[in-house]
Amino acid sequence: MTARLIDGKAFAAALRERIAGAVATLNRAHGLQPGLAVVLVGEDPASTIYVRSKGEATHAAGMLSVTERLPADTPEAELLALVGRLNRDPRIHGILVQMPLPPQINANAVIAAIDPAKDVDGFHVENAGRLAVGLPAMVPCTPLGCMMMLRDVLGELRGRSALVIGRSNIVGRPMAQLLVAADCTVTVAHSRTRDLPGECRRAEILVAAVGRPELVRGDWIRPGATVIDVGMNRIPGDQPGKTRLVGDVAFAEARAVAGAITPVPGGVGPMTIACLLANTVTAACRQGGIAVPALA
Ligand code: GUN
Repeated sequence: MTARLIDGKAFAAALRERIAGAVATLNRAHGLQPGLAVVLVGEDPASTIYVRSKGEATHAAGMLSVTERLPADTPEAELLALVGRLNRDPRIHGILVQMPLPPQINANAVIAAIDPAKDVDGFHVENAGRLAVGLPAMVPCTPLGCMMMLRDVLGELRGRSALVIGRSNIVGRPMAQLLVAADCTVTVAHSRTRDLPGECRRAEILVAAVGRPELVRGDWIRPGATVIDVGMNRIPGDQPGKTRLVGDVAFAEARAVAGAITPVPGGVGPMTIACLLANTVTAACRQGGIAVPALA
């Protein structure tokens, strides 16, 4: 069997088109232009690229895009003051502070300072708690994108066995919560899991989010399973000085066994930015007391 490729790039492009349509309608019908502020502290090269892409995508969808760049030695109090100003700015409906932050800044303090209604990353404990107890919440973008792709591939998720590898606050934990909310039977594996291959072989849905290049081998995968690879790992390439991007799953091996699989790149990555835009529209509507348009 050769698995169906889950084309995250095409999926994200279609979602972004629907978002742009919803933004145009909000503008016309309610005079509302959703606004997203992205804050970058320092000049980490990967973060710089991500922040530029987020700004461009926001603008392309017809939303207000504000990018705030602060030097790497910015004191925590200064960043907190900026977050406070953005919380009070009525043009801004979503705030994202790009991680990682420099060592003098406590990321948890910054996340706690963001108005939960504007927390389009879904990192604030209020949003994490709301997700955990089944209340409407801002949901972290990467797991949200994974759920959209899973629903597209599988339709009904109820009753399926799912394994999430990784327990980060950004991906693994919220992913597990979303799968539980969709009535899956969910196992969370991590670095202390005793029999990871065995856990994988039981899973109809496998989500790998550990940041270990090609950890999951083809013979760990249950035949026909749906595999979502969140990993983005740079490893040495075939030529000297070159690198290549691989996921947490050994793609060629897995593709021969799985029913459907996301590639890296071109799978989960493009969906994360599209879901950030979707969250910004959701946040703007909730703040404006307007019904949230269906985007998924
Ligand atoms: N750094 C890497 N991924 C993310 C993300 O999803 N949100 C934020 N704020 N920072 C990140």
